[in-house]
Amino acid sequence: MKRVLVTGAVGQIGSELTLALREKHGADNVVAGGRKTKPSPELRDSGPFEVVDCTDVKALEETVKKYEIDTIYHLAAILSAVAEANPPLAWKVNIDGLYNVLEVAREHKCAVFVPSSIGAFGPSTPQDGTPQDTIQRPNTMYGVTKVAGELLCDYYHKRFGVDTRGVRYPGIISNVTLPGGGTTDYAVEIFYEAIKQGKYTCCLKQGTKLDMMYMPDAIKAALDLMDADPQKLKHRNAFNVTAMSFDPEEIAAEVKKLVPNFTMDYDIDPVRQAIAASWPNYMDDSAAREEWGWLPAYDLPTMAKDMIEVLSKKLSG
Ligand code: SER
Repeated sequence: MKRVLVTGAVGQIGSELTLALREKHGADNVVAGGRKTKPSPELRDSGPFEVVDCTDVKALEETVKKYEIDTIYHLAAILSAVAEANPPLAWKVNIDGLYNVLEVAREHKCAVFVPSSIGAFGPSTPQDGTPQDTIQRPNTMYGVTKVAGELLCDYYHKRFGVDTRGVRYPGIISNVTLPGGGTTDYAVEIFYEAIKQGKYTCCLKQGTKLDMMYMPDAIKAALDLMDADPQKLKHRNAFNVTAMSFDPEEIAAEVKKLVPNFTMDYDIDPVRQAIAASWPNYMDDSAAREEWGWLPAYDLPTMAKDMIEVLSKKLSG
């Protein structure tokens, strides 16, 4: 039986991944680690919750010791737009925080899942069918921390035998917890605004294609990769994974099929637009498919239908 700690458990992915892990490993075996933000009653009441700040190595180690943790899902991170606004904070959380997690994992023999991102690529990366192994020269602080994180995780595996694994997540679309300041947030907000207002103002330009994924697939990716046979993994940090790729007009057209009066206009945010323009249009995720059987379940139409159904209920309550 695994004993799991999730850092960033109150965040967009953590809040749903923690519940999935509790389902899989038993609620008492999965510790939700959050910083200041209050956990939802569901997260707080369904298993152990601890205040864990990954930049505080002592507190992190105490929690790992107290619960005899053997697997850490390290989701605490600063997203791309916030990282551009506050580079020192991004460095502190995404680099120093990860270093602390890896050190504690080395000391206490924990396996570690660390998400990387489409943000680990940059303007000189091939943008169409972005290969698994390719040029990674991002020009954002977020990207710098993600590339360094991938390398650090591979280093801890090779040098110290820590079982580190990760995926390069695309934009994640979800309906439980909002994302916290990324470039791909528009693809979540559009659904909330379509239901609340029937209209949405998009901060990215027409034609800005990006990889995306619905939350159930993001959770499946994390669980499946951590279950994968290590003998079959040629890569570790981090695998390209994607489920769909679209631009703002394409998602708006899909939303309009479900909310017929929906309209969208544009007010471009130059910071997010520049970040998005430097990221892939779509990644090649065949290495993940071959090495551990990655296969997403949702495409744009099935994701949009589910988002509208779930949010219509949630927002009417
Ligand atoms: N969703 C993330 C962001 O926009 C990408 O990793 O920052």
